Amino acid sequence: MKTKHKLFAIFGNPVSHSISPLMHNYALQGLGIDGCYTRYQLHEGTQLREKFLALKLSGINITVPHKEAAFAACDEIRGIAREIEAVNTIVHEKGKLIGYNTDAPGFLKSAQLFGEINAVTILGAGGTAKALAAIFRENGTDVTVINRSEKRLHYFSERDYRAMAWESYVTHTSDLIVNTTSAGLQDDALPAPEALLEDLFSHAKYAIDVIYNKETPFMKKAKKQGLPVKDGSEMLLYQGVIAFNHFFGNTLHEEEITGFMRQAFI
Ligand SMILES: NC(=O)c1ccc[n+]([C@@H]2O[C@H](COP(=O)([O-])OP(=O)(O)OC[C@H]3O[C@@H](n4cnc5c(N)ncnc54)[C@H](OP(=O)(O)O)[C@@H]3O)[C@@H](O)[C@H]2O)c1
Repeated sequence: MKTKHKLFAIFGNPVSHSISPLMHNYALQGLGIDGCYTRYQLHEGTQLREKFLALKLSGINITVPHKEAAFAACDEIRGIAREIEAVNTIVHEKGKLIGYNTDAPGFLKSAQLFGEINAVTILGAGGTAKALAAIFRENGTDVTVINRSEKRLHYFSERDYRAMAWESYVTHTSDLIVNTTSAGLQDDALPAPEALLEDLFSHAKYAIDVIYNKETPFMKKAKKQGLPVKDGSEMLLYQGVIAFNHFFGNTLHEEEITGFMRQAFI
């Protein structure tokens, strides 16, 4: 494929830990595309648009804490990002900044590799939970959200999702249980009381933790109850694959990009 030299980056703060440059550079090299993907530590989200244009970038990914600022910086928002109001991919298209969210479809792809998901239960009610609830609803999946406290659940009940705080938990059946809380990220905490989790797992088929590169207490517990379990690395892989394809006008084959990007996880 012939293109003129293109420069891409990930914007975030912090950004040094990001595996995205490795993933995207493997794909660029593997596909023989003349381009390079780097990282940029952005302190102020309000500077995102100015920096993007000044650096003459063809596309960027955006990580914590700038996904809402990225949404605001775009000329046009496409797909599920309109509903989520958070953007993790921007493409420079004919002088305009086009924003997408590929975290949500990346997660959906990873979940569907387990099997058909007709009902999902999401633990946590933050940014990731909103994104996943939106993509599952769009996909026709029944969504339940469980959170430690009431406050953040209002967003979900206002949008007619089934929303429960720990105290108001009711037994229900779900194909998939997802942990989107940060419990287990830097501690050994479970994302909900043990008895609640036991009940959830005993009425479910699969479990995914969006945390990656470690086996969290949530994953250990699900495994112990006999559920097939995944961490968030596959979500990370597929959000990158979908973003990379957006960078090139969705003209590439996802399987091919996936093959090259997987090398970043070895
Ligand atoms: N794999 C990937 O590609 C990927 C992509 C995006 C994010 N992530 C991960 O997703 C996680 C969440 O990110 P986010 O931006 O959605 O977070 P967030 O907006 O800060 O939301 C955090 C949620 O977790 C709950 N929570 C926090 N600590 C808890 C604990 N000890 N027990 C129970 N609930 C707890 C909070 O409950 P309260 O409302 O009660 O405070 C809140 O609902 C992070 O670990 C992040 O690394 C992974």
